[in-house]
Amino acid sequence: MNNGDVSQGRRRFLIGATSVVGGAGVVGAAVPFLGSWNPSAKAEAAGAPVTVNISKIEPGQQVTVEWRGKPVWVIRRSEEMLANIEKLNDTVKDPQSEAPQQPTYIEGIYRSLKPEFAVIVGLCTHLGCVPSYRPEVAAEDLGENWLGGLFCPCHGSRYDLAGRVYQAQPAPLNLEVPPYRFDDDATLTIGLDPEAA
Ligand code: FES
Repeated sequence: MNNGDVSQGRRRFLIGATSVVGGAGVVGAAVPFLGSWNPSAKAEAAGAPVTVNISKIEPGQQVTVEWRGKPVWVIRRSEEMLANIEKLNDTVKDPQSEAPQQPTYIEGIYRSLKPEFAVIVGLCTHLGCVPSYRPEVAAEDLGENWLGGLFCPCHGSRYDLAGRVYQAQPAPLNLEVPPYRFDDDATLTIGLDPEAA
């Protein structure tokens, strides 16, 4: 009868209404960028400065931060790494970085405000691939003369741990150093010059 039809219809509706489509799933994340250091999408789109807590970066460790859509590496260099950079002065193409690949306040062979910390845009100056961080001395695949550095897998360009390109490489220039400043011993900001403090 009619009552039965209504009942059936309601039952079907209730079943349909409770058939919730399953969850969207957890978006995961072992991403190369450190989440807590990322700016919001809005700030990033605007090119806002990015503040990085450097207090937990161990000597020899490299972390990647995104700034203006680019990967920026912060590398905490050990004494041995700094000594190896010096040994490569005759091997690299532009040891004092005379080509304008960095702010004017970044000078010297270490290309940094403090020798201990390198801040480098991780994009190869040949065709823009992301080089690999290869700090191990005499790495088997890079040869016994390798003193640690950055190696671009696309066409083989080699850079030292200051982002200085070796001579006779596909890449024509040293890696870019972005504007940055130290706010205090534990904090640096990428995208602001020191005088803007
Ligand atoms: S893009 Fe790095 S060597 Fe060509």
